[in-house]
Amino acid sequence: MERVETGIPGLDEMLGGGIPKNHTVVVMGSFGTGKTTFGLQFLWHGLQKGEKGIFLSLEEDENAVLETAASFGWDLGKYIDSGMLVVVKLEPADAKSTVTKIKSDLPGFIKHMGASRLVLDSVSLLTMLFQREEEKRDTLFHLAKLVKDSGATALFTAEVKGEAPHVSRDGLAEYTADGVILLRYQEVGSDVHLLLRVVKMRRTAHIRRAKPYTIGANGITVHVEAEAY
Ligand SMILES: Nc1ncnc2c1ncn2[C@@H]1O[C@H](COP(=O)(O)OP(=O)(O)OP(=O)(O)O)[C@@H](O)[C@H]1O
Ligand SMILES: [Mg+2]
Repeated sequence: MERVETGIPGLDEMLGGGIPKNHTVVVMGSFGTGKTTFGLQFLWHGLQKGEKGIFLSLEEDENAVLETAASFGWDLGKYIDSGMLVVVKLEPADAKSTVTKIKSDLPGFIKHMGASRLVLDSVSLLTMLFQREEEKRDTLFHLAKLVKDSGATALFTAEVKGEAPHVSRDGLAEYTADGVILLRYQEVGSDVHLLLRVVKMRRTAHIRRAKPYTIGANGITVHVEAEAY
């Protein structure tokens, strides 16, 4: 099976080499656990290997995304200039047209550009645009299918429900995805540990145990050799 490296040291090992190609994977976690960083690191790693990428942002605008990346030493600007990377800010204010636009334009765009990696940050903000459960579900299914048909490998970041840290806010994203990676905090006394767990990854064996990770100057590192506290 062809695999797509995440570029996150330790995680690729946990996954037996990387995410199976053409999977859609939900990266789920509460605020500040590193979801955006995860997505950027995934794209940055691809760019280093000559793989084109798309970052769809519902949160930060293009400048903020570039600044976040730059804080880890990832200079995305030159890849945007050379057409290897596209950062798109989607306006949540206009829900219907945003989703209509994604549905109609994204497949052609991915194909035309030749992008093999796609990040949507965050899918929770997208589904929040809809009131009805049914609309949320339809949008998610449609989006997952659209990305699958494009041949790209995709990461959807998702926020978790405050009271249920293992469930995404809409409670749906994890069902439509091929894989789920959970990021969370654990407080031990006055220390805060970050833990990563591969909850599900279709068609591959993977380590299930939660592993500690850190966010440092070069991004996220998972400490596979360490045991969770
Ligand atoms: N340049 C950096 N070096 C080291 N750590 C950093 C750096 N930039 C950010 N961090 C750490 O990473 C954390 C979260 O990063 P990130 O924005 O990826 O999380 P997130 O899950 O996307 O958050 P949100 O829910 O707000 O979108 C920050 O709160 C900070 O602790
Ligand atoms: Mg974020």
